[in-house]
Amino acid sequence: LPDSQVMVVSNREPYIHNRSSEGIVLQNPASGLVAALEPIMRACGGVWIAHGSGSADRDTVDRHDRLQVPPVDPAYTLRRVWLSEEEQTGYYYGLANEGLWPLCHIAFVRPTFREADWLQYCKVNERFAETVVQEATRDDPIVLVQDYHFALLPRMIRDRLPKATIITFWHIPWPNAETFSICPWRNAIIEGLLGSTILGFHTQLHCNNFLEAADRFMESRVDREHMSVTYRGHEVLVRPYPISIEWPPAALANQAPVASCRASVQRQFGLSSDVRIAVGIERFDYTKGILDRLKAVDDLLTRHPEWSGRFVFIQAAAPTRSKLGAYSALQEEAETLVNWINAKHGTRDFAPIRLVIRHHEPDEVFELFRAADMCVVSSLHDGMNLVAKEFVAARDDEQGVLILSTFAGASRELSEALLVNPYDTHGMADALQTALQMPSPEQRNRMRLMRELIRERNVYRWAAQMLLDASHIRQRQRIGS
Ligand code: G6P
Repeated sequence: LPDSQVMVVSNREPYIHNRSSEGIVLQNPASGLVAALEPIMRACGGVWIAHGSGSADRDTVDRHDRLQVPPVDPAYTLRRVWLSEEEQTGYYYGLANEGLWPLCHIAFVRPTFREADWLQYCKVNERFAETVVQEATRDDPIVLVQDYHFALLPRMIRDRLPKATIITFWHIPWPNAETFSICPWRNAIIEGLLGSTILGFHTQLHCNNFLEAADRFMESRVDREHMSVTYRGHEVLVRPYPISIEWPPAALANQAPVASCRASVQRQFGLSSDVRIAVGIERFDYTKGILDRLKAVDDLLTRHPEWSGRFVFIQAAAPTRSKLGAYSALQEEAETLVNWINAKHGTRDFAPIRLVIRHHEPDEVFELFRAADMCVVSSLHDGMNLVAKEFVAARDDEQGVLILSTFAGASRELSEALLVNPYDTHGMADALQTALQMPSPEQRNRMRLMRELIRERNVYRWAAQMLLDASHIRQRQRIGS
């Protein structure tokens, strides 16, 4: 795409500056979206517009609220947008995370829809639309709009910059039309998204669900064969683009050999070398099925007491959205459950479950992945889930077993994982047992196939496919005008 300006808009910023006792520290957020888009921006350059959420963010920008990133070897511009307490409460915590998040992840947490949140959501979407216009250096930029925080933004950009190519990617699931219809602002949300040039989801199912909603609720023409929606004379392509990770992942470059990683993790957790290690790593979110997998560990140790003292489950969980009741309740419930399981199956010197509640940097995450005999991803519902792909990428020794929920988009691609229903405790415990007994050659065969797939379908391909589709549309428009 020569002669084009690429802009990304997301809520979460790729670099957060926080104030600490040691001065200003730089943090990379735990976000699949950021993990996927950062390498793309490093490769393409351009502008990334996002909410400046760090306590020292204002001290690290120029007078236009911009900074060049990555700090070492800058490749693109980060433009920060400041949000007031009131805006964050309504737009981010309220509508986005208490409304749309539970609405789209069918995790049986009832969505909350408040008029006041909706008004802030509309207002913040407007503010980002204005920022896109400010940052646009031409009238036809390529704008990559990210996620459920910005459902209204595509139309707002379209109204201001009619020639823009707007690629919107929805990183979370899109539920069936009936489920989505309970949202009081469903039509406004669909109408907003239909301002896009291309609207992407992770899976075909989510595309179909969106097409169904557009068909049922909007006066639009839906072409299922061509996968497009025409609304008020404007055509939007609706396509699956399964997101992925960079290959090889940057965090792998700093890693010691697998045996050293294992020794380091054994030291950190006081484990002897005959203890088998399972890991789970994610944001502490109720969609991830953390309680469900802990119950499966209990079931495993109950039915197979021979593993007592010889099996440990390390759950690393990054605090997230902790102001919301559903999140703080989850943390409390998890801690209670862990204590109960450890009391039931542990001894004074050995706890089968180790819950580590803090943010882990990519290097630590990869060390854990490399030290583990298995990784458990038991999302109740998930757009894609990049933890599953990162675990596979971390295992250049071709060992280790992935246990993966069938309700994560990743299960469509990683069919060599042990696929589980996280609601089926018994079944998940069986999968743990199978993983513990899986012979090394079988682990190798499965790992090899999954690694091959991710290597090929990496994040560059994800972005390239969208940009290629966009460039065809631009060419056609240019010829047509
Ligand atoms: C999910 C969302 C992303 C978000 C991430 C972290 O993956 O799809 O948009 O960046 O969670 O959530 P947070 O609320 O901390 O930004």
